[in-house]
Amino acid sequence: MTAPPLERVDHLDDAPAAFARSGIVSIARAMLPDVARAHAARVLAARDAWTPAFDGEQWSLGRAFYTHLEEGLDGDYFRLAADSDAEVERRAPGLQEEVISLAARALGAPVHRRPGFCGPGVHVFLPGDPVSRRGGVVHFDTEGLTPAQLAARTPAATLVLMLQPADRRGGTRVWGVGYRGRDHATREELRSPSSMITYRAGDAALLDAYRLHQIQAFAGGPRVSATAHLARVASGAWECWF
Ligand SMILES: [Fe+2]
Repeated sequence: MTAPPLERVDHLDDAPAAFARSGIVSIARAMLPDVARAHAARVLAARDAWTPAFDGEQWSLGRAFYTHLEEGLDGDYFRLAADSDAEVERRAPGLQEEVISLAARALGAPVHRRPGFCGPGVHVFLPGDPVSRRGGVVHFDTEGLTPAQLAARTPAATLVLMLQPADRRGGTRVWGVGYRGRDHATREELRSPSSMITYRAGDAALLDAYRLHQIQAFAGGPRVSATAHLARVASGAWECWF
């Protein structure tokens, strides 16, 4: 088995073809670094608005579906989705729409908000917390897909826009392992070759949601990244959520 192909592009408009070829695309300067860092500063200043997950192991501005699902809080997620979007807009004005338009250019297709779900949000991982020390859970990004979408392997992706990278490490490791109905990888799969997405402020990654991946341990300041999960719908457009 060889490492999964990771394509690096310098222009957003080159991303759709690269994504179609490899399913793992690193996009340099998808957002101007100063703009990304300014968004990160606003997010870090909005700590009173962050939502904790997993007993404070990680935080977000906006509510993330997968954390609420895994904690049995999906009722809260849907009940508070409109409030979540309002808070993201209030604390990081314009960021949600910038992420949606980046996703549309990266996919080469229209992107709409998924009805009832929260729009794009921001994950904050703090130094000293478990993800910084051990790395995140090895996973697929399939939590938000319906059983029908999973069964049909509906095209699905995750866009990560790095607002403030970790000072050291903190990339995304991607294995050449596809989702086969199990949420967890085998030991053998974890030993298989992998590729590493690295980030500077303003860089983005577009990743096939069915690829096994993991946030790497990091050191230095907080790691702050905006995220949109995406799935293609019948019209050929994509729907996004957080
Ligand atoms: Fe993920």
